[in-house]
Amino acid sequence: MAVNKVGVLGAGIMGNGIAQVAAQAGLEVKMRDIEDKYLDNGMNAINTSLGRMVKKEKITQADADDIVARITCTTDLLEAVKEVDVVIEAIPEIMSLKVETYTTIDKACPDHVIFASNTSGLSITELSSATNRPDRFIGMHFFNPVPMMQLIEIVRGFSTSEETIGVIRDLSSRMGKESILVNDTPGFATSRLIGVLQNEAIHAFAEGIASAEDIDKGMRLGMNHPMGPLQLADFVGLDTILHVMENLHAEYGDPKYRPPLLLRQMVRAGHLGRKTGKGFYDYTKE
Ligand SMILES: NC(=O)c1ccc[n+]([C@@H]2O[C@H](COP(=O)([O-])OP(=O)(O)OC[C@H]3O[C@@H](n4cnc5c(N)ncnc54)[C@H](O)[C@@H]3O)[C@@H](O)[C@H]2O)c1
Repeated sequence: MAVNKVGVLGAGIMGNGIAQVAAQAGLEVKMRDIEDKYLDNGMNAINTSLGRMVKKEKITQADADDIVARITCTTDLLEAVKEVDVVIEAIPEIMSLKVETYTTIDKACPDHVIFASNTSGLSITELSSATNRPDRFIGMHFFNPVPMMQLIEIVRGFSTSEETIGVIRDLSSRMGKESILVNDTPGFATSRLIGVLQNEAIHAFAEGIASAEDIDKGMRLGMNHPMGPLQLADFVGLDTILHVMENLHAEYGDPKYRPPLLLRQMVRAGHLGRKTGKGFYDYTKE
């Protein structure tokens, strides 16, 4: 199956990055969010990222212009999935919201269209059951920032066909990414592991063991992590981390996944990390 056009649902941290790498791969992209302001923010992020690449002479200004010209923005869900070959969904990590979206687009899209969710760890099998195409439903888990990170974790749902896996593996390499294949389990391979580390770092910080700076420095210089777990949590978005940990806790029932109260309070206060300017660190002066 040839993939020429993709619909990207969500223009947030992940959605705009996914739209960018898809357009860089020469695909026509339709990016959808619920309001124009989110689409504007998404396009600004894409322009900033491409501007950096031009400055570093990785691409020319003409390349950047062509990439941007391949991306169309819309707030209309059905318009976003019209005549596309693959839908990549990157809306918030909330099962009911994703199910509602998939139920709607399943009725509108022809049978051959593949649905790929960028969920960090929700069940691909459960999401696929909201559609009449569980064999053409798959997890396509990108990493943040999408244009920089090399990996896509491909998640095989209970009914995902080998053909679908093949199409998505090819698409991943066209986007310049390496892929790994994992079976559908809560948190897959990557979110389950990093989630536990971030959770433990937040517990340690809440217990007053050390400052955020020192916890992060300990992991950077002592364990050779490129970024400390609290800084990474801010970068991912604390609301997303909370959803991931709640899902892991509910699915496995193991207290090691229990989200810290501090994380809940920070999310309630709107301190979601870098995207709102405040998290474990202050980004308002950047
Ligand atoms: N942030 C990360 O590091 C990261 C990494 C891998 C995967 N993910 C996953 O990617 C998904 C998106 O996360 P994000 O960090 O980009 O979140 P985000 O909050 O930055 O962006 C989500 C966007 O979706 C929009 N949205 C809300 N409802 C929508 C709908 N019904 N249709 C279309 N758009 C809608 C919001 O307006 C927002 O712009 C989540 O499932 C998350 O778990 C996130």
